[in-house]
Amino acid sequence: MKIAVLPGDGIGPEIIEQAVKIISKLSPNAKLNFSPIGGAGYDSFGKPLPDETLKLAKESDAVLLGAVGDWKYDQLPRELRPERGLLKIRQELNLFANLRPAILFPELANASTLKPEIVSGLDILIVRELTGDIYFGQPRGIEENQDGDREGFNTMRYSVPEIERIAHSAFQLAQLRSKKVCSVDKANVLETTELWREVMISIGKNHYPDVELSHMYVDNAAMQLIRNPKQFDVMVTGNIFGDILSDEASMLTGSIGMLPSASLDQNNKGMYEPSHGSAPDIAGKNIANPLATILSVAMMYRYTFKLSGYAEMIENAVKLTLKQNLRTKDILDENAIEVTCSEMGEAVLRNLNI
Ligand code: IPM
Ligand code: MG
Repeated sequence: MKIAVLPGDGIGPEIIEQAVKIISKLSPNAKLNFSPIGGAGYDSFGKPLPDETLKLAKESDAVLLGAVGDWKYDQLPRELRPERGLLKIRQELNLFANLRPAILFPELANASTLKPEIVSGLDILIVRELTGDIYFGQPRGIEENQDGDREGFNTMRYSVPEIERIAHSAFQLAQLRSKKVCSVDKANVLETTELWREVMISIGKNHYPDVELSHMYVDNAAMQLIRNPKQFDVMVTGNIFGDILSDEASMLTGSIGMLPSASLDQNNKGMYEPSHGSAPDIAGKNIANPLATILSVAMMYRYTFKLSGYAEMIENAVKLTLKQNLRTKDILDENAIEVTCSEMGEAVLRNLNI
């Protein structure tokens, strides 16, 4: 097992430290190679994705990433900002399928801002296309237009092969769950997503007749996620809609600090990272929630290393830790015991049943 570990910025290093403890316990022979990305990459090598970090990531079986970004880099030119490092590594490794599960642990039903009966038992998988769409489409820029006004522009684009491959990912994941896919688009307004819908229908009909496919406009989907989230199972959508809907879905589960993610290429080589950001406001205080990162390690065992037994072991250890009433600040309630980031990591480690 060769794993590139990229802690990044903000709370990245603290949460990664906890996740690394878990890997070292489960796989003492795993080769873990650390390298900077994001603002840390800029500070060490002048680029948010240093060449040696990219090289290491390409040579590894999996990448474990903390988070990137800090206000102190806001004044840099766009190309040098931490977020660029993240977008570039996704693109360079061809990680087109981003899996963002939103699962509510029963112990956290009260941490959600929604009523417990709306969210209890929630288990949604958002499949977000990650290497196309308005994030990467050309032309893009800020230029002066004919009236002499500055004008910003980006381009939403999807080709048929790009839609087909994410469709296959979503349908195949649905076959392992309750065989329902809801494809989210804005086909009433945007041609790009009109094509998206057409391709989803044809892939579904020709390859996955056992999976029930439905469609929803993104504005309605945003509303339905709050109104009745349990109507969804697998949701598949493009890059920008997936970015927004996955943050929304995360809050259903109480805290964005609980949500892992996997970004996979055609061969299930993957990058694993928490869905949350670098939270510079709480960085270095040892109060961040490491569970999203630890659960991302579980996804790594499941999808890249095909060791679902290990994945379940980690997930069970997290559940047990929550049952023991241990909580970081973000998910704290009156009856719980507040722990730090590293104490949470230690508790999960102790609860690993190996
Ligand atoms: C995410 C983040 C990133 C994105 C940012 C940091 C570039 O919000 O992973 O959801 O927009 O994809
Ligand atoms: Mg986001």
